[in-house]
Amino acid sequence: MSLYQYIYWFKRIRPNSYQPVILITGCSSGIGLELAKLFYKLPQYRTVITARANSIAKLREIFLPADHIRIWDLDVTEKGSRSTIANRITDEWGGVDILINNAGISYRSVIEHMTHEDEQLQMATNYLGPMALIRAVLPSMRGKGRGKIINISSVSGMLAMPTMSSYSASKAALEGASEALWYEMRPFGIDVSLIQPGFIHSESFKNVRYTEKARHSENGRDDYSAFYQNMKPFVSKVMGLSRATPESVASLVLHVIQTERPPLWVPASLDAEFFYYLRRLMPRRLLHPLLFKFLPGVKSWGVGFTHKRKRGFWD
Ligand SMILES: NC(=O)c1ccc[n+]([C@@H]2O[C@H](COP(=O)([O-])OP(=O)(O)OC[C@H]3O[C@@H](n4cnc5c(N)ncnc54)[C@H](OP(=O)(O)O)[C@@H]3O)[C@@H](O)[C@H]2O)c1
Repeated sequence: MSLYQYIYWFKRIRPNSYQPVILITGCSSGIGLELAKLFYKLPQYRTVITARANSIAKLREIFLPADHIRIWDLDVTEKGSRSTIANRITDEWGGVDILINNAGISYRSVIEHMTHEDEQLQMATNYLGPMALIRAVLPSMRGKGRGKIINISSVSGMLAMPTMSSYSASKAALEGASEALWYEMRPFGIDVSLIQPGFIHSESFKNVRYTEKARHSENGRDDYSAFYQNMKPFVSKVMGLSRATPESVASLVLHVIQTERPPLWVPASLDAEFFYYLRRLMPRRLLHPLLFKFLPGVKSWGVGFTHKRKRGFWD
């Protein structure tokens, strides 16, 4: 149990005859797959498990047909796909009561190595798609006077790491919009929560995307090679050490669903709690120079590729 689960146990919603309809995005692997497995076992919810068309066959192999489960394709970046699923759910079950925006992609690339198209895909998947889905489900939730929007964010949304600028930007956008939405939905009885995993012990590093320039730099020796060559093993190592898993995040999401008026920010790992307080308690002038010092192999970054002069103690 995480700290959050201990603190909010008294606000748990008691079961009743209401059988909420849940829509989960990105269920082919990682946290989404664990959420799908969890809700498959819970017939008190009607759950729409979604994935992009290519992954549907895999999901149908894992999950046998059940009355409370639908497995439908959804690409969050496609307008047609989003409106098709919203209409299908309305026809079948009368609308979505709980939306879990989980689908996401992550680029590992310094800003100079991203293209405009890469940036657009990152934002379309992690921010614009989820926002469009939220807009699609809100009218029915507002009409009913209840509902939950649960956005799977990341510690990167509040604290950025080098080589992950675009991912951080997409999650920061998600966080900012969700915060505003929290206020906007309060009068309508709709809860908005951001689940913030930090490093998760999972295979998801295999899905990290490299741009062409980033891949080239990682395998060569240029201005940015040391950045990639140090960050990649560092992130894999810390993920391997983490005690948080896709299963633990999924169970936390269930807890948020079962909580009356859950908080906006829900840290989903120990490092997420740590960085939350570090960000808030540490003086701004010290925070980034200090974190810079702890970056793996940072003394070698850029060496031989710049005429930068040492300016002070922190350099
Ligand atoms: N794992 C971590 O360490 C970690 C940490 C912090 C935050 N998070 C966040 O948690 C969420 C889940 O991450 P994960 O680690 O479980 O990732 P993952 O294993 O890579 O799974 C991501 C899912 O998103 C789907 N997806 C990608 N593009 C999509 C699109 N356009 N439309 C619909 N689905 C799409 C993928 O489906 P396809 O099979 O179709 O590609 C996949 O099912 C993400 O939002 C991520 O940013 C993860």
